[in-house]
Amino acid sequence: MTTPPCRDEYPSTSSALPPNSRGIGLGGDSSGINSTGDNSINMQVVHAAPVIMPMEQVIPLSALGNTPAVPDVFVGREEDLQRVEYAMAGPGPVVVTAVQGLGGVGKSTLAARYSALHRGEHSLVWWITADAPSAIEIGLARMAVALQPAVAGLALEQQTEHGIRWLSSHPGWLLILDNLEAPTDASMLLERMSHGRVLITSRRAAGWHSTGTALPLDVLDPDDAVSMLTRIIVGSRPATDCAGAVDLCAERGGFRWPSSRPPPTSLRLALLPPTIRTCSSDIRR
Ligand SMILES: Nc1ncnc2c1ncn2[C@@H]1O[C@H](COP(=O)(O)OP(=O)(O)O)[C@@H](O)[C@H]1O
Ligand SMILES: [Mg+2]
Repeated sequence: MTTPPCRDEYPSTSSALPPNSRGIGLGGDSSGINSTGDNSINMQVVHAAPVIMPMEQVIPLSALGNTPAVPDVFVGREEDLQRVEYAMAGPGPVVVTAVQGLGGVGKSTLAARYSALHRGEHSLVWWITADAPSAIEIGLARMAVALQPAVAGLALEQQTEHGIRWLSSHPGWLLILDNLEAPTDASMLLERMSHGRVLITSRRAAGWHSTGTALPLDVLDPDDAVSMLTRIIVGSRPATDCAGAVDLCAERGGFRWPSSRPPPTSLRLALLPPTIRTCSSDIRR
């Protein structure tokens, strides 16, 4: 028995095929699609790499934005909202405002409310959960892809760079950096901006002077807390008399509602929206 030659032993041209054969011979340097048979068809679809426009030329669709919804029950914060609006309308090509306060006090909700109310004034409203430098990079990358889907094929850091380039070459946008750990986490990004508005929320109380205007956000006003409690309870049970619920919640907080006097610091946690929500669901049970 003779052993068939290995591939490299075949001559590299079809002239070596037996006479009248319709097959093909493969040489050592053969490449591309090869097929044999009377009815064979070769189809080659070449996908061209998507063309990426310079971000300087990208104009967003009018509806581009990703602000989270404001909760159904939203109470108070009129003065706080005015303070944010005043600060955000400040002079300068880049305006930065940092709303800072306790976790749960309502910073993100206020930022979402501000973004929703001022959506129409901006070419783009982009919300980034900014609790780590890597989260900021991801948020900027997603923004770049939303602005120009072809960017999705690039590596993450290139996508991020495209996002920064868009921000640094366009005016009229609003960027929300939600839950920023420290002012320094945003400094490299902010240094590259030449126009636009940045609204930051953070638990960090100090260190904002070189970044922008710091606006401390306090717990809810007691009357607003009562309003929130009753609206949650009444919303689920239209005929409920809320007087008892308010008393019970006040008792838990250790002070009397409604009251124009701010409660002592040790009791202020009872005026955090999540505490009120928990209290109202306990009462409903
Ligand atoms: N003004 C408000 N009216 C009603 N609910 C609120 C209000 N502010 C905050 N909340 C609710 O309280 C919770 C915590 O608010 P959030 O904005 O996430 O706090 P923070 O960002 O300060 O940690 C959320 O569930 C939110 O819906
Ligand atoms: Mg928050």
